[in-house]
Amino acid sequence: MKLIQRLFLTCFLVCIYTATTKAQSPSWAQDIAPILYSNCTSCHHTGGLAPNSLMTFTDAFNYRFMIKQYVDNNSMPPWPPDAQYKHLAFERILSASDKNKISQWVLGGGQQGNAASAPTPPTYTNSTTQLSSIDFTGKMQNYMVNTASDLYRCFIINTNFSVDKFAAEIEVIPGNSAIVHHVLVFEDTTALIKQKDSADAGAGYTSFFGTGSNDSRLIGEWVPGTAPIKFPNLMGVRLRKNTRIVLQIHYPQGTYLKLDSTRVNIKFAANTASPFFREVFLAPLLAESNLINGPLSIPPNVVKTFTSVMTVTTTVTLPYPAITLLSIAPHMHLIGDKMKVFGLENSTNDTMPLINIPKWDFKWQGIYNFRNPIKVPLGSKLVCQSAYDNRSSNLNNPNSPPITVNQGESTSDEMNLVFFAFTYYFPGDEDIIIDNSPVVGINELQKSIVNTVQLFNVFPNPAKNQAQLNYFAPSNYLAKAKIINMEGKILKEWPTNMQEGYGAINLNIEGLPKGQYFLTIETKSFTKTKQFIIYE
Ligand code: HEC
Repeated sequence: MKLIQRLFLTCFLVCIYTATTKAQSPSWAQDIAPILYSNCTSCHHTGGLAPNSLMTFTDAFNYRFMIKQYVDNNSMPPWPPDAQYKHLAFERILSASDKNKISQWVLGGGQQGNAASAPTPPTYTNSTTQLSSIDFTGKMQNYMVNTASDLYRCFIINTNFSVDKFAAEIEVIPGNSAIVHHVLVFEDTTALIKQKDSADAGAGYTSFFGTGSNDSRLIGEWVPGTAPIKFPNLMGVRLRKNTRIVLQIHYPQGTYLKLDSTRVNIKFAANTASPFFREVFLAPLLAESNLINGPLSIPPNVVKTFTSVMTVTTTVTLPYPAITLLSIAPHMHLIGDKMKVFGLENSTNDTMPLINIPKWDFKWQGIYNFRNPIKVPLGSKLVCQSAYDNRSSNLNNPNSPPITVNQGESTSDEMNLVFFAFTYYFPGDEDIIIDNSPVVGINELQKSIVNTVQLFNVFPNPAKNQAQLNYFAPSNYLAKAKIINMEGKILKEWPTNMQEGYGAINLNIEGLPKGQYFLTIETKSFTKTKQFIIYE
């Protein structure tokens, strides 16, 4: 080829290439605004938790290089657990294609695109509830932060419940979301907390970690950006008669002289008299007393690892010899570095991955729901492996030079706790769906490898009047659904379309007597049967 031709060809190819990348370079209006609105602006809006708004084109444009950096190194959106180890409910993770779009948008000069075609920005108000209904609502007294350093303050809300109640849903609505960093919700029936309150001037009283009362039971936790706590049907956490609710709020440094008035909303559980109703407990099943290489004491200038183990046992007779884990909340302080928690099944010794936090960040404590509850047979072990970094190279080290850190409740001491929300096990718990959104990351993979129908279990189970069967279907199916009793008699039969992807088949079970049933789904290519219970 002659040189001139070759040059021409090169130029031609390069020109095509630049022309296509130009044309394909993502724009804010088309590609970026939708990503930011669904993954970032819940915190990044004026008055929100994050320091900078990302609501407008100008906001996003001005921050574009930082956005790319934070997204590329996975520090935004904040999601400390390792999703490769265990997918948890309501994960805040950007898909590879969204990350790529952000990167291309920044490299392409941060084009605005046609502003008129941008999606409508979401609106955020502090008072919107996400509960299905509210049976109890309580607001703390107005409080103005009176210190320049970190503050942990407990506020008491009276309930005057004349009998025990069960909370099915709990929500915290920060009064001033720019200063409320995280909230632990306790209930407590003693006068001690009242005394502490009166002994401390102003609303509430200062107390790190706990409420300072042994009677206090944890009933909920709130961290920014998380959905409210909602337990599955026929489960709830107990609120004792005449109890008081204690909101322990962390106001970080820099909130001096700012005002807050945070609210808690509760929806009570229904059907608490049903034999299938279950109390949910929130407790640190793994604590410092479970350390096999304790005590928790970390000498200066080392990284020290610890293991804690507990065997799941009970003193009460359970209907089935197992417990069901609903959520998990690891807790360490400032020099905490990593934590991995798993179960070891008693008969098979199989590992049950629960959570892995490869880089602990004290600022992002969370209570994480499992996508499906986890069955742990009695006799199984729960194991926590953790590491603490007490070197000066750890930027979170509160001591310079480092000193020995021991177990204790103040921020500069350390703790080693794994809280769980759990109840006793019923068959089918593993199939309750807490979050049925497709898993980011493996979703793309899942589409290509899952070529068989996945039928989850009937939900809720036990059920009453209405129930549903969730499924994943690799393509569309014409199906027939049948409800069959234990004698094999078909009681209901109806045609149904299964759509490609995640979907649900609704079961109308009204009028069927209580008892055990089978649900059979028949298509040309398969027949699958699920068992479920109708109560009342
Ligand atoms: C759950 C709340 C939350 C979500 C969701 C979130 N951020 Fe943030 N972001 C924060 C907070 C809080 C900070 C302040 C630094 C810190 O505390 O870690 C921050 C800091 C940042 C910063 C640095 C700003 C500065 O001035 O230092 C950037 C850039 C950023 N976030 C981008 C994003 C992007 C992009 C997304 C979505 C893909 C996102 N964030 C999602 C809470 C959030």
